Amino acid sequence: MKIDYRDNNLIVFLNRKNIDGVDFYDKSSLESYFRKLFSKLGDYGIELGGSYNITVYVDKCGVVLEVFRDDVDYYYDVDMNITVSKYSGFIYRVNDFLFSGNYYCYNGCLFLEPDDIDFVSYGILIENSDIIYGRECFDIKRKGILIDNCVQNMYNWVGDFMRLRNVRGAHDVICASRYIINDYKDYRGNFKSLFGNLNPIHIEIGMGKGDFIIGMALKYPHINFIGIEKFDSVIVRAIEKLEDLDIPNLRLIRMDALGINDVFDREVDCVYLNFSDPWPKERHAKRRLTSSVFLSLYDSIFRDRCVINMKTDNRKLFEYSIMSLTSYGYSIDFLSLDLYSDDVSDNVQTEYEKKFVSNGNLIYMISVHK
Ligand SMILES: C[S@@+](CC[C@H](N)C(=O)[O-])C[C@H]1O[C@@H](n2cnc3c(N)ncnc32)[C@H](O)[C@@H]1O
Repeated sequence: MKIDYRDNNLIVFLNRKNIDGVDFYDKSSLESYFRKLFSKLGDYGIELGGSYNITVYVDKCGVVLEVFRDDVDYYYDVDMNITVSKYSGFIYRVNDFLFSGNYYCYNGCLFLEPDDIDFVSYGILIENSDIIYGRECFDIKRKGILIDNCVQNMYNWVGDFMRLRNVRGAHDVICASRYIINDYKDYRGNFKSLFGNLNPIHIEIGMGKGDFIIGMALKYPHINFIGIEKFDSVIVRAIEKLEDLDIPNLRLIRMDALGINDVFDREVDCVYLNFSDPWPKERHAKRRLTSSVFLSLYDSIFRDRCVINMKTDNRKLFEYSIMSLTSYGYSIDFLSLDLYSDDVSDNVQTEYEKKFVSNGNLIYMISVHK
């Protein structure tokens, strides 16, 4: 239990289990519950005589009770007037990625909307966080940037990401870059005219800060590379790296891959998916870049043979992708459960890969075609 005061109201934070069995729609059940609770709260000016308005916020793990004592009725017996705002939820301002759940970035702070967590962990969480509920919570969830990902593995990226959000003028830098294709829809079906040759076109979806696509373009000058990334704040880092480089076979597009059919028409030879967001929750499975939703989008971008190369350190995403790709008709050409033990001679590393390898994570890779 954690106690706080806000606007002269007493705020009580509890584990959700504390209200198991309390029927919020039965006044007497509520009253007997609050009588017990109030008897523990004597030190905080809560007495068993008086009239209280209590607003109850509930989420999967916890309960917030906002207790307002109405002094006018103070001398009467307990007369509870309880407003239930069940399911309104709340969110925890945290400094680190300790628990699984949805994380939001808002005004440079990190907020957690946890999954169901155990009793002990919940105690740790409420001790080490500020709990935001009501309107403020609603605003954070509506306006914040959702970072829905494998918590440990996303730690570094999110740290970077929060800093990157402050990159000023990123949009202008991106639009002005000679590497960026701003009018990409105009080239649909005719990207060879952009490069001025008939070389194969390889694309990376979710290129991040560009280490892989830049490395590949330098290594294979007779292949044209196009990197796709949906966030300004990330792609701008790739553009900074390219400032002093002249790489004619490389271009970048700032877009969400969901719109990929508006960009390419039967002209791509290979797709790279490196350390794609795993979207661990089942209800978000369709957002994975190897879900059948995306595979069906890729169908019409390939020139002839459809080739996909994927690397990840996320075992579950890897297993899911093997199932998804093979049930979609792809055949496996190469599969590694530990790329760095198998063969890394011509491997070009991505930013994430560098971090994961230095952390000792296994790197999985699969190459498929259909
Ligand atoms: C985990 S990061 C990996 C970045 C890079 N591939 C690497 O390995 O270092 C995933 C990147 O994919 C981008 N991304 C995710 N979904 C995307 C989509 N639908 N369209 C474009 N980019 C996407 C994210 O913004 C993020 O930069």
